[in-house]
Amino acid sequence: MQHHTGRHFLQIPGPTNTPLPILAAIAQPTIDHRGPEFAELGLEVLTGIRAIFKTSNPVIIYPTSGTGAWEAALVNTLSPGDKILMFETGWFSTLWSKMTAALGLDAEIVKSDWRSGVDADAIEARLREDKTHSFKAVAVVHNETSTGVASDIAAVRRAIDRAGHPALLLVDTISSLGSIDYRHDEWGVDVTVGGSQKGLMLPPGLGFNAVSDKAIAASRTAKFPRSFLGWDEMLTANKTGFFPYTPSTNLLQGLKVALDMLNAEGLEQVFARHKRAAAATRRAVQHWGFQIQCKKESEYSSSLTAVRLPDGHSADALRKEILGRSNMSLGNGLGPLADCVFRIGHLGDFNDVSVLGTLSGVEMGLKARGVPYRQGGVEAAMDVLAGNSPPVVQAAE
Ligand SMILES: Cc1ncc(COP(=O)(O)O)c(C=O)c1O
Repeated sequence: MQHHTGRHFLQIPGPTNTPLPILAAIAQPTIDHRGPEFAELGLEVLTGIRAIFKTSNPVIIYPTSGTGAWEAALVNTLSPGDKILMFETGWFSTLWSKMTAALGLDAEIVKSDWRSGVDADAIEARLREDKTHSFKAVAVVHNETSTGVASDIAAVRRAIDRAGHPALLLVDTISSLGSIDYRHDEWGVDVTVGGSQKGLMLPPGLGFNAVSDKAIAASRTAKFPRSFLGWDEMLTANKTGFFPYTPSTNLLQGLKVALDMLNAEGLEQVFARHKRAAAATRRAVQHWGFQIQCKKESEYSSSLTAVRLPDGHSADALRKEILGRSNMSLGNGLGPLADCVFRIGHLGDFNDVSVLGTLSGVEMGLKARGVPYRQGGVEAAMDVLAGNSPPVVQAAE
Protein backbone atom coordinates (compact mmCIF):
# COMPACT_ATOMS: atom_id res chain seq x y z
CA MET A 1 0.00 0.00 0.00
CA GLN A 2 1.28 3.46 -0.91
CA HIS A 3 1.83 5.65 2.15
CA HIS A 4 0.91 9.32 1.89
CA THR A 5 2.43 11.66 4.42
CA GLY A 6 0.13 14.19 6.06
CA ARG A 7 -3.57 13.67 6.46
CA HIS A 8 -5.95 12.89 3.65
CA PHE A 9 -8.00 15.95 2.67
CA LEU A 10 -11.54 14.63 2.38
CA GLN A 11 -13.07 17.62 0.61
CA ILE A 12 -15.99 15.90 -1.07
CA PRO A 13 -19.40 17.29 -0.08
CA GLY A 14 -19.88 14.45 2.36
CA PRO A 15 -19.05 12.16 3.95
CA THR A 16 -16.96 14.76 5.75
CA ASN A 17 -13.96 14.66 8.06
CA THR A 18 -14.84 13.14 11.43
CA PRO A 19 -13.16 15.02 14.30
CA LEU A 20 -11.11 13.04 16.81
CA PRO A 21 -13.47 13.47 19.80
CA ILE A 22 -16.26 11.89 17.73
CA LEU A 23 -14.01 9.07 16.53
CA ALA A 24 -12.97 8.46 20.13
CA ALA A 25 -16.62 8.28 21.24
CA ILE A 26 -17.43 5.80 18.47
CA ALA A 27 -14.44 3.70 19.51
CA GLN A 28 -15.79 3.26 23.06
CA PRO A 29 -16.93 -0.25 23.99
CA THR A 30 -20.38 -1.06 22.66
CA ILE A 31 -22.98 -0.88 25.41
CA ASP A 32 -26.15 -2.91 26.09
CA HIS A 33 -28.83 -1.33 23.91
CA ARG A 34 -31.49 -2.47 26.37
CA GLY A 35 -29.69 -1.30 29.50
CA PRO A 36 -30.02 1.88 31.59
CA GLU A 37 -26.84 3.47 30.22
CA PHE A 38 -28.27 3.26 26.71
CA ALA A 39 -31.62 4.72 27.74
CA GLU A 40 -29.78 7.79 29.03
CA LEU A 41 -27.81 8.10 25.78
CA GLY A 42 -30.94 7.51 23.69
CA LEU A 43 -32.94 10.19 25.48
CA GLU A 44 -30.03 12.63 25.26
CA VAL A 45 -29.49 12.29 21.49
CA LEU A 46 -33.19 12.03 20.63
CA THR A 47 -33.81 15.28 22.50
CA GLY A 48 -30.57 16.99 21.46
CA ILE A 49 -31.02 16.38 17.73
CA ARG A 50 -34.27 18.39 17.74
CA ALA A 51 -32.36 21.66 18.13
CA ILE A 52 -30.38 20.92 14.96
CA PHE A 53 -33.61 20.58 12.97
CA LYS A 54 -35.10 23.50 14.93
CA THR A 55 -38.10 21.47 15.95
CA SER A 56 -39.81 20.64 19.21
CA ASN A 57 -41.35 17.52 17.64
CA PRO A 58 -39.79 14.04 17.54
CA VAL A 59 -36.87 13.20 15.25
CA ILE A 60 -36.62 9.55 14.25
CA ILE A 61 -33.12 8.11 13.96
CA TYR A 62 -32.61 5.10 11.68
CA PRO A 63 -29.52 2.94 11.23
CA THR A 64 -29.50 3.80 7.50
CA SER A 65 -27.86 6.13 5.02
CA GLY A 66 -29.83 9.11 3.74
CA THR A 67 -31.55 6.97 1.11
CA GLY A 68 -33.28 4.93 3.82
CA ALA A 69 -34.51 8.15 5.43
CA TRP A 70 -35.86 9.30 2.03
CA GLU A 71 -37.83 6.07 1.78
CA ALA A 72 -39.07 6.36 5.36
CA ALA A 73 -40.47 9.84 4.64
CA LEU A 74 -42.45 8.49 1.69
CA VAL A 75 -43.75 5.18 3.00
CA ASN A 76 -44.85 6.57 6.34
CA THR A 77 -46.94 9.42 4.94
CA LEU A 78 -48.25 8.25 1.56
CA SER A 79 -50.13 5.39 -0.08
CA PRO A 80 -49.41 3.50 -3.33
CA GLY A 81 -50.52 5.53 -6.36
CA ASP A 82 -50.56 8.87 -4.50
CA LYS A 83 -49.55 11.91 -6.52
CA ILE A 84 -46.48 13.83 -5.39
CA LEU A 85 -45.09 17.07 -6.80
CA MET A 86 -41.29 17.17 -7.04
CA PHE A 87 -38.83 19.77 -8.29
CA GLU A 88 -35.77 18.66 -10.23
CA THR A 89 -32.80 20.62 -8.91
CA GLY A 90 -30.14 18.04 -9.83
CA TRP A 91 -28.94 14.50 -9.31
CA PHE A 92 -30.27 13.93 -5.80
CA SER A 93 -33.77 15.26 -6.46
CA THR A 94 -33.75 12.98 -9.52
CA LEU A 95 -32.77 9.95 -7.44
CA TRP A 96 -35.51 10.73 -4.94
CA SER A 97 -38.07 10.94 -7.74
CA LYS A 98 -36.79 7.61 -9.15
CA MET A 99 -37.45 6.13 -5.73
CA THR A 100 -41.05 7.39 -5.83
CA ALA A 101 -41.51 5.63 -9.17
CA ALA A 102 -40.02 2.40 -7.81
CA LEU A 103 -42.41 2.54 -4.87
CA GLY A 104 -45.45 3.04 -7.08
CA LEU A 105 -46.09 6.71 -6.36
CA ASP A 106 -47.17 9.01 -9.16
CA ALA A 107 -44.60 11.81 -9.24
CA GLU A 108 -44.97 14.92 -11.35
CA ILE A 109 -41.61 16.57 -11.81
CA VAL A 110 -40.99 20.25 -12.47
CA LYS A 111 -37.81 20.32 -14.57
CA SER A 112 -35.01 22.84 -14.20
CA ASP A 113 -31.60 23.65 -15.67
CA TRP A 114 -29.64 22.12 -12.72
CA ARG A 115 -28.25 25.59 -12.03
CA SER A 116 -31.06 27.03 -9.94
CA GLY A 117 -33.14 26.17 -6.92
CA VAL A 118 -36.79 25.32 -6.44
CA ASP A 119 -39.09 27.82 -8.14
CA ALA A 120 -41.73 28.42 -5.48
CA ASP A 121 -43.96 30.30 -7.95
CA ALA A 122 -44.04 27.25 -10.23
CA ILE A 123 -45.06 25.09 -7.28
CA GLU A 124 -47.80 27.56 -6.35
CA ALA A 125 -49.10 27.69 -9.94
CA ARG A 126 -49.25 23.89 -10.20
CA LEU A 127 -50.96 23.51 -6.83
CA ARG A 128 -53.54 26.18 -7.72
CA GLU A 129 -54.48 24.12 -10.78
CA ASP A 130 -54.95 21.06 -8.59
CA LYS A 131 -58.49 21.91 -7.52
CA THR A 132 -59.21 18.36 -6.29
CA HIS A 133 -56.11 18.32 -4.09
CA SER A 134 -54.82 15.20 -5.78
CA PHE A 135 -51.22 15.98 -4.80
CA LYS A 136 -50.62 14.47 -1.39
CA ALA A 137 -47.11 15.85 -0.98
CA VAL A 138 -44.55 18.28 -2.34
CA ALA A 139 -40.96 16.99 -2.07
CA VAL A 140 -37.87 19.16 -2.54
CA VAL A 141 -34.16 19.07 -1.78
CA HIS A 142 -32.97 21.98 0.37
CA ASN A 143 -29.34 21.83 -0.69
CA GLU A 144 -28.73 20.04 -4.00
CA THR A 145 -25.37 18.39 -3.47
CA SER A 146 -24.77 17.80 -7.18
CA THR A 147 -24.96 21.49 -8.10
CA GLY A 148 -24.25 23.51 -4.95
CA VAL A 149 -27.63 25.22 -5.10
CA ALA A 150 -29.61 25.92 -1.91
CA SER A 151 -33.35 26.48 -2.22
CA ASP A 152 -35.58 28.78 -0.20
CA ILE A 153 -37.75 26.36 1.78
CA ALA A 154 -39.70 29.10 3.56
CA ALA A 155 -40.74 30.36 0.10
CA VAL A 156 -41.97 26.86 -0.82
CA ARG A 157 -44.05 26.78 2.37
CA ARG A 158 -45.54 30.20 1.54
CA ALA A 159 -46.32 29.01 -1.99
CA ILE A 160 -48.21 25.98 -0.70
CA ASP A 161 -50.12 28.17 1.77
CA ARG A 162 -50.96 30.80 -0.88
CA ALA A 163 -52.38 28.04 -3.06
CA GLY A 164 -54.45 26.91 -0.06
CA HIS A 165 -53.28 23.35 -0.73
CA PRO A 166 -53.16 20.67 1.99
CA ALA A 167 -50.19 18.72 0.52
CA LEU A 168 -47.50 17.64 2.96
CA LEU A 169 -44.09 19.28 2.56
CA LEU A 170 -41.17 16.81 2.53
CA VAL A 171 -37.66 18.27 2.50
CA ASP A 172 -34.23 16.65 2.07
CA THR A 173 -31.59 18.40 4.21
CA ILE A 174 -28.92 15.74 3.84
CA SER A 175 -26.18 18.19 2.82
CA SER A 176 -27.46 21.24 4.69
CA LEU A 177 -28.32 19.94 8.16
CA GLY A 178 -25.88 21.46 10.64
CA SER A 179 -24.25 23.57 7.92
CA ILE A 180 -26.95 25.90 6.56
CA ASP A 181 -29.76 27.51 8.54
CA TYR A 182 -32.79 25.24 8.51
CA ARG A 183 -36.05 25.57 10.50
CA HIS A 184 -38.34 22.55 10.46
CA ASP A 185 -41.04 24.06 12.70
CA GLU A 186 -40.94 27.69 11.57
CA TRP A 187 -41.04 26.73 7.88
CA GLY A 188 -43.91 24.32 8.41
CA VAL A 189 -42.09 21.30 7.04
CA ASP A 190 -43.85 17.98 7.58
CA VAL A 191 -40.95 15.58 7.15
CA THR A 192 -37.32 16.65 7.09
CA VAL A 193 -34.88 14.01 5.89
CA GLY A 194 -31.29 14.09 7.18
CA GLY A 195 -28.13 12.02 7.33
CA SER A 196 -25.19 11.74 9.71
CA GLN A 197 -22.25 12.03 7.34
CA LYS A 198 -22.18 15.71 6.38
CA GLY A 199 -22.78 18.68 8.68
CA LEU A 200 -23.03 16.40 11.71
CA MET A 201 -19.42 15.27 11.10
CA LEU A 202 -20.21 11.60 11.77
CA PRO A 203 -19.44 8.65 9.52
CA PRO A 204 -22.32 7.51 7.27
CA GLY A 205 -24.92 5.27 8.89
CA LEU A 206 -27.61 7.36 10.57
CA GLY A 207 -30.68 8.66 8.74
CA PHE A 208 -33.21 11.08 10.24
CA ASN A 209 -36.87 11.98 9.83
CA ALA A 210 -38.03 15.07 11.71
CA VAL A 211 -41.81 14.88 11.73
CA SER A 212 -44.68 17.35 12.18
CA ASP A 213 -47.97 16.52 13.92
CA LYS A 214 -49.61 16.57 10.47
CA ALA A 215 -47.09 14.00 9.20
CA ILE A 216 -47.73 11.76 12.20
CA ALA A 217 -51.47 12.03 11.57
CA ALA A 218 -50.89 11.13 7.90
CA SER A 219 -48.84 8.10 8.95
CA ARG A 220 -51.94 6.68 10.70
CA THR A 221 -53.82 6.41 7.40
CA ALA A 222 -50.89 5.89 4.98
CA LYS A 223 -51.21 2.52 3.25
CA PHE A 224 -47.67 1.66 2.22
CA PRO A 225 -46.63 -1.60 3.85
CA ARG A 226 -43.74 -0.88 6.21
CA SER A 227 -42.02 -2.59 9.08
CA PHE A 228 -38.37 -1.64 9.67
CA LEU A 229 -39.02 1.95 8.60
CA GLY A 230 -42.37 2.35 10.38
CA TRP A 231 -42.57 5.41 12.64
CA ASP A 232 -45.11 3.98 15.01
CA GLU A 233 -43.07 1.49 17.01
CA MET A 234 -40.06 3.78 16.82
CA LEU A 235 -41.91 6.72 18.38
CA THR A 236 -43.27 4.50 21.14
CA ALA A 237 -39.88 2.97 22.00
CA ASN A 238 -38.10 6.34 21.72
CA LYS A 239 -40.22 7.77 24.55
CA THR A 240 -38.03 5.88 27.02
CA GLY A 241 -34.82 6.31 25.02
CA PHE A 242 -34.95 2.87 23.39
CA PHE A 243 -35.35 1.58 19.83
CA PRO A 244 -37.54 -1.28 18.56
CA TYR A 245 -34.46 -3.05 17.18
CA THR A 246 -30.71 -2.86 17.69
CA PRO A 247 -29.71 0.74 16.96
CA SER A 248 -26.28 1.91 15.76
CA THR A 249 -25.10 2.18 19.36
CA ASN A 250 -21.63 3.47 18.62
CA LEU A 251 -22.77 6.02 16.05
CA LEU A 252 -25.22 7.31 18.66
CA GLN A 253 -22.29 7.62 21.08
CA GLY A 254 -20.61 9.69 18.37
CA LEU A 255 -23.78 11.72 17.78
CA LYS A 256 -23.84 12.75 21.45
CA VAL A 257 -20.36 14.24 21.05
CA ALA A 258 -21.22 15.81 17.68
CA LEU A 259 -24.18 17.58 19.30
CA ASP A 260 -21.95 18.76 22.16
CA MET A 261 -19.45 20.13 19.64
CA LEU A 262 -22.09 21.93 17.57
CA ASN A 263 -23.65 23.39 20.71
CA ALA A 264 -20.29 24.48 22.09
CA GLU A 265 -19.55 26.38 18.87
CA GLY A 266 -23.17 27.60 18.62
CA LEU A 267 -25.35 26.66 15.66
CA GLU A 268 -25.44 30.22 14.31
CA GLN A 269 -21.62 30.40 14.45
CA VAL A 270 -21.45 27.06 12.65
CA PHE A 271 -23.61 28.50 9.85
CA ALA A 272 -21.48 31.66 9.72
CA ARG A 273 -18.28 29.56 9.47
CA HIS A 274 -19.77 27.67 6.51
CA LYS A 275 -20.83 30.93 4.85
CA ARG A 276 -17.32 32.39 5.11
CA ALA A 277 -15.71 29.22 3.74
CA ALA A 278 -18.16 29.21 0.85
CA ALA A 279 -17.54 32.89 0.10
CA ALA A 280 -13.77 32.35 0.15
CA THR A 281 -14.07 29.34 -2.13
CA ARG A 282 -16.22 31.21 -4.65
CA ARG A 283 -13.79 34.11 -4.60
CA ALA A 284 -10.96 31.72 -5.55
CA VAL A 285 -13.04 30.04 -8.26
CA GLN A 286 -13.99 33.35 -9.83
CA HIS A 287 -10.44 34.64 -9.59
CA TRP A 288 -9.28 31.54 -11.44
CA GLY A 289 -11.81 32.51 -14.11
CA PHE A 290 -14.28 29.61 -13.80
CA GLN A 291 -18.05 29.52 -13.66
CA ILE A 292 -19.87 28.43 -10.53
CA GLN A 293 -22.58 25.88 -11.36
CA CYS A 294 -25.13 27.78 -9.24
CA LYS A 295 -26.37 30.75 -11.27
CA LYS A 296 -27.98 32.88 -8.59
CA GLU A 297 -26.11 34.57 -5.79
CA SER A 298 -29.08 34.18 -3.42
CA GLU A 299 -28.94 30.40 -3.97
CA TYR A 300 -25.23 29.81 -3.43
CA SER A 301 -24.73 26.83 -1.15
CA SER A 302 -22.67 27.30 2.01
CA SER A 303 -21.69 23.64 2.16
CA LEU A 304 -20.24 23.02 -1.28
CA THR A 305 -19.25 24.78 -4.50
CA ALA A 306 -19.65 23.04 -7.87
CA VAL A 307 -17.12 24.41 -10.36
CA ARG A 308 -17.45 24.25 -14.14
CA LEU A 309 -14.20 23.69 -15.98
CA PRO A 310 -13.67 25.32 -19.38
CA ASP A 311 -14.74 23.18 -22.37
CA GLY A 312 -12.15 20.64 -23.41
CA HIS A 313 -10.80 20.14 -19.88
CA SER A 314 -11.68 17.05 -17.90
CA ALA A 315 -12.81 17.64 -14.32
CA ASP A 316 -12.19 13.96 -13.55
CA ALA A 317 -8.60 14.14 -14.80
CA LEU A 318 -8.11 17.21 -12.61
CA ARG A 319 -9.49 15.39 -9.57
CA LYS A 320 -7.25 12.41 -10.28
CA GLU A 321 -4.22 14.68 -10.52
CA ILE A 322 -5.11 16.35 -7.21
CA LEU A 323 -5.68 13.03 -5.45
CA GLY A 324 -2.31 11.70 -6.57
CA ARG A 325 -0.39 14.93 -5.99
CA SER A 326 -2.00 16.28 -2.81
CA ASN A 327 -3.84 13.29 -1.32
CA MET A 328 -7.08 15.26 -1.54
CA SER A 329 -10.50 13.98 -2.65
CA LEU A 330 -12.90 16.34 -4.41
CA GLY A 331 -16.46 15.56 -5.48
CA ASN A 332 -17.11 14.42 -9.05
CA GLY A 333 -19.74 15.76 -11.45
CA LEU A 334 -22.91 13.65 -11.31
CA GLY A 335 -25.22 12.63 -14.15
CA PRO A 336 -25.06 15.14 -17.02
CA LEU A 337 -22.41 17.12 -15.12
CA ALA A 338 -19.95 14.18 -15.15
CA ASP A 339 -16.44 15.29 -16.06
CA CYS A 340 -17.53 18.93 -16.66
CA VAL A 341 -17.89 19.84 -13.02
CA PHE A 342 -15.96 19.14 -9.84
CA ARG A 343 -17.27 19.88 -6.36
CA ILE A 344 -15.42 21.37 -3.43
CA GLY A 345 -16.91 20.38 -0.08
CA HIS A 346 -16.65 22.99 2.69
CA LEU A 347 -18.85 21.48 5.35
CA GLY A 348 -18.55 19.80 8.68
CA ASP A 349 -15.28 20.00 10.56
CA PHE A 350 -12.93 22.56 8.97
CA ASN A 351 -11.28 25.89 9.64
CA ASP A 352 -9.83 28.72 7.55
CA VAL A 353 -6.54 26.90 7.10
CA SER A 354 -8.19 23.71 5.86
CA VAL A 355 -10.20 25.77 3.36
CA LEU A 356 -7.02 27.44 2.13
CA GLY A 357 -5.21 24.09 2.01
CA THR A 358 -8.04 22.73 -0.14
CA LEU A 359 -7.92 25.67 -2.52
CA SER A 360 -4.12 25.42 -2.74
CA GLY A 361 -4.46 21.77 -3.73
CA VAL A 362 -6.90 22.75 -6.48
CA GLU A 363 -4.70 25.58 -7.74
CA MET A 364 -1.65 23.29 -7.91
CA GLY A 365 -3.72 20.71 -9.76
CA LEU A 366 -4.87 23.28 -12.32
CA LYS A 367 -1.30 24.21 -13.04
CA ALA A 368 -0.16 20.59 -13.29
CA ARG A 369 -3.00 19.73 -15.69
CA GLY A 370 -2.40 22.76 -17.87
CA VAL A 371 -5.93 24.11 -17.34
CA PRO A 372 -5.87 27.83 -18.19
CA TYR A 373 -6.50 29.84 -15.02
CA ARG A 374 -5.53 33.12 -13.42
CA GLN A 375 -3.00 32.67 -10.62
CA GLY A 376 -3.75 34.04 -7.15
CA GLY A 377 -7.08 32.41 -6.32
CA VAL A 378 -5.82 31.25 -2.93
CA GLU A 379 -4.66 34.75 -2.05
CA ALA A 380 -8.04 36.13 -3.09
CA ALA A 381 -9.71 33.56 -0.80
CA MET A 382 -7.36 34.56 2.00
CA ASP A 383 -8.59 38.14 1.68
CA VAL A 384 -12.17 36.96 2.15
CA LEU A 385 -11.26 34.91 5.21
CA ALA A 386 -9.31 37.85 6.61
CA GLY A 387 -12.47 39.90 6.21
CA ASN A 388 -11.34 42.45 3.65
CA SER A 389 -12.97 41.49 0.42
CA PRO A 390 -16.41 42.29 -1.03
CA PRO A 391 -18.86 39.44 -1.73
CA VAL A 392 -18.57 37.45 -4.95
CA VAL A 393 -20.95 38.17 -7.79
CA GLN A 394 -21.37 35.54 -10.52
CA ALA A 395 -19.39 36.48 -13.64
CA ALA A 396 -21.21 36.71 -16.99
CA GLU A 397 -21.19 33.50 -19.11
C1 LIG B 1 -28.96 15.88 -0.98
C2 LIG B 1 -28.76 14.39 -0.85
N1 LIG B 1 -29.83 13.61 -0.77
C3 LIG B 1 -29.70 12.26 -0.64
C4 LIG B 1 -28.46 11.66 -0.61
C5 LIG B 1 -28.39 10.17 -0.49
O1 LIG B 1 -27.90 9.86 0.78
P1 LIG B 1 -27.05 8.53 1.05
O2 LIG B 1 -25.99 8.47 0.02
O3 LIG B 1 -26.53 8.76 2.45
O4 LIG B 1 -27.98 7.39 1.00
C6 LIG B 1 -27.33 12.44 -0.68
C7 LIG B 1 -25.99 11.84 -0.66
O5 LIG B 1 -24.98 12.47 -0.83
C8 LIG B 1 -27.47 13.84 -0.80
O6 LIG B 1 -26.41 14.65 -0.90
